[in-house]
Amino acid sequence: MKTKDIRALFLEYFASKGHKVYDSMPLVPDDASLLFTNAGMVQFKDIFTGKIPIPTPNIATSSQLCIRAGGKHNDLENVGYTARHHTLFEMLGNFSFGAYFKENAIAYAWEFVTKILGFDKSVLYVTIHESDDEAYNIWCKHINPSRISRMGDKDNFWQMGDTGPCGPCSEIFVDQGEEFFNGEEDYFGGDGDRFLEIWNLVFMQYERDKEGNLKPLPKPSIDTGMGLERVVALLEGKHNNFDTSLFSPLMQKIEKITGEKYYRDDEIHKNTPNATQASFRVIADHARAVAFLLAQGVNFDKEGRGYVLRRILRRAVRHGYLLGLRKAFLYEVIGAVCESMGTHYSYLIERKNAIMEQCKAEEERFFETIESGMSLFNAELASMQNNHEKSFKGEVAFKLYDTYGFPLDLTQDMLREVGFSVDLKSFEACMQEQKSRSKAHWKGSGDSLKEGDFNALLSEFGENSFIGYTHTQAHSTLLALLDSHFTRVESLQNGQEGYVLLDSTPFYPESGGPVGDKGILKIDSNVVAQVLDTQKYFGLNLSKIQALGILKTKDKIIAEVDSSRFEIAKHHSATHLLHLALRKILGNHITQAGSLVEENRLRFDFSHPKALTQEELEAIQTLVNAQILNQNPQVCENMEIAEAKAKGAMALFGEKYGNNVRVITFGDSIELCGGIHVQNTAEIGSFYIVRESSVSSGVRRIEAVCGAAAYQYGKNALDSIRILKDTLKNQDIIQGVAKLQNALKEAKEQANKAKQNIKSLDYEEINSTKLIVLKLDSVEAKEAKEIIDKTKNENEKVAILLITQTNGKVAITAGIKGVESLLKAGVWVKEVAQILGGNGGGRDDFATAGGKDTSKITQALDLAKEIARKNLG
Ligand code: SER
Repeated sequence: MKTKDIRALFLEYFASKGHKVYDSMPLVPDDASLLFTNAGMVQFKDIFTGKIPIPTPNIATSSQLCIRAGGKHNDLENVGYTARHHTLFEMLGNFSFGAYFKENAIAYAWEFVTKILGFDKSVLYVTIHESDDEAYNIWCKHINPSRISRMGDKDNFWQMGDTGPCGPCSEIFVDQGEEFFNGEEDYFGGDGDRFLEIWNLVFMQYERDKEGNLKPLPKPSIDTGMGLERVVALLEGKHNNFDTSLFSPLMQKIEKITGEKYYRDDEIHKNTPNATQASFRVIADHARAVAFLLAQGVNFDKEGRGYVLRRILRRAVRHGYLLGLRKAFLYEVIGAVCESMGTHYSYLIERKNAIMEQCKAEEERFFETIESGMSLFNAELASMQNNHEKSFKGEVAFKLYDTYGFPLDLTQDMLREVGFSVDLKSFEACMQEQKSRSKAHWKGSGDSLKEGDFNALLSEFGENSFIGYTHTQAHSTLLALLDSHFTRVESLQNGQEGYVLLDSTPFYPESGGPVGDKGILKIDSNVVAQVLDTQKYFGLNLSKIQALGILKTKDKIIAEVDSSRFEIAKHHSATHLLHLALRKILGNHITQAGSLVEENRLRFDFSHPKALTQEELEAIQTLVNAQILNQNPQVCENMEIAEAKAKGAMALFGEKYGNNVRVITFGDSIELCGGIHVQNTAEIGSFYIVRESSVSSGVRRIEAVCGAAAYQYGKNALDSIRILKDTLKNQDIIQGVAKLQNALKEAKEQANKAKQNIKSLDYEEINSTKLIVLKLDSVEAKEAKEIIDKTKNENEKVAILLITQTNGKVAITAGIKGVESLLKAGVWVKEVAQILGGNGGGRDDFATAGGKDTSKITQALDLAKEIARKNLG
């Protein structure tokens, strides 16, 4: 059975039982409490907890890509050293939101495992939570009680993260046979590999809050998860996931790159170096995670999710280094991942070249420092071993991290292999000094709004209707008012900020790029509130307001959208045109990595490995303007997602699309989009790229303007040109600037000549000391110092004093070399400065002073010479 068959069998089985099939959600969840999607249940979290209403049907199934690296479920350090751990894997699951509970969940799982997958009952075992008599009694109907084992919280209580849905669970195990596994831990319940857990049935009953308390979920629910890779291994008769057909194309690629051989578990003999095999597995596993994360728009970064991605890549690179590789290689394995997994995940094929390039650039960066880092590591390790120390200095681990880019877990990994560990206390101390950034992005980043009264509003009113595609003004009723903490209130007083729920609203909620609508609320002709922003919360379209009068629930109001909406729409439509132009000029790998659409500018971030050239930028700008001039009308259609994809509509990762989608077309640009657009591209007016820059490695940003902002941009540019023409007194500014440049060049040349001439300038020799006393025009005091330094370098014995004059101020700079005992620069300039009505001083060999009285310069020069002659003579 092929992987895809198992996946399809699973989904078909549960669909036949009435479950709705959901697509794999993005690896980056819309959930600040999670680093990555780490289980199939993540996309249903808010349904379990009752934040959003239960869908119809109330049972679901999916095959979900998951990442377990960083965060609560972190398998990173095990990968490579066990037969079954992965950073990225696929989880098959079925879910019930208050429909069925333990009885059916167990019955379905049992039927699927024994009838569909065909496992013999004689190899199956189960665990349950020690307190779960109900599960015990149900299991007894299917399996001999001697095969049921009760376990504690550690093994049989599952939770998504530190907070969120959780509950006791029951796991199904397959006995892989005593003939292959006969270690001490290979008994049921032991740590050995003989009994392999394949399916976890979670009886979701609680939600854990921030304080750690458990509160019951609105309805007892089911969340199950079965690791696809493990099932593939069992069905292919392999004892190691890495030995299956899923990984063999990757192992072959690594064999080709390294010239080493990967031995499957059944081929291993005692001379096979274990470490080499582990390195193969690490590289193969990590290549999959890196490929999917990059393809889904995560980029290498110094913090947050992008830093976890970097850690995974660097761990893989270090294992390549162990296999003898000294230049980028992982990108080639990533190419193999795209080819083998792209048949199911087509975006891997689409983005293959771009992610290979992105990966290569990042690898090259690490290869630059890995050699030095490894030397530092090895030197420290040797010194530890000499001194019989057990822990690796935190300061060195920090230096490896900070200077050589070795993530802490990489250093820990390297030490684990030789039985040592890092002194974490001193590492942390160093880290504290340089504020830890790795989690800053996602950890606890305010989920507080999710505590609001949303569910109550949804059950009372349902989702309110949006009529803003056709209306910018509406007569509406205030269904509900919320204070600034999203708690329902009966009224808002003059000056208070809060939120309003209108029964039908013309205000567009921020989504993707475009900012939310602003406007006003009126009662009769009185303005009673300023609408500051509009956002969507769990399907509710809420406008943030500042009350300018008294607002009460059930008030009849008139809602008016601000005219800035039209300028936002222009920038939004221009963003679609830009997106397409980028793909046409740069290639199909372009995917949106961020977008902001405002009244007077747009910002579009996209993945692309290098800075855009001027030619590329011009070609993009021209293409967008051509689409504007072409007067393409807007075509807005609703259709099934499959139909939209077949039409070639561009869709975004991370965006949740329902089955029925809205498709916006302007000429060749076809995009899934719920936003507001111009009726015809001609309304955009014109489009200018204002700036191109880098956001992070592999992500570029374009900022542009159109509509009224483009007019302003053009006007500002023309105004500057007019001012320039006036200043240059030349209608042709290019010619004017060229003249100016020539004049500047001449002036510089003259100044240089003056500096050069200094050597040949007047000097006298007194007792073989060169004496130079000069007034220099068009020379700054700073340059006088340079001249003095130069003269000192070129002479053994010299006394030089220069008087320069800029902006009405006189500067005296003097240097002495070889005769400081006879004449001191500090004393010399002081005396000369006095004549000029100034003061100064300095060291014996160099000194500066200032003066005011420019009429006495000649006198000052004479005095300087006199003093020098007297002292040197
Ligand atoms: N959430 C559970 C797990 O990940 C079952 O899907 O194991």
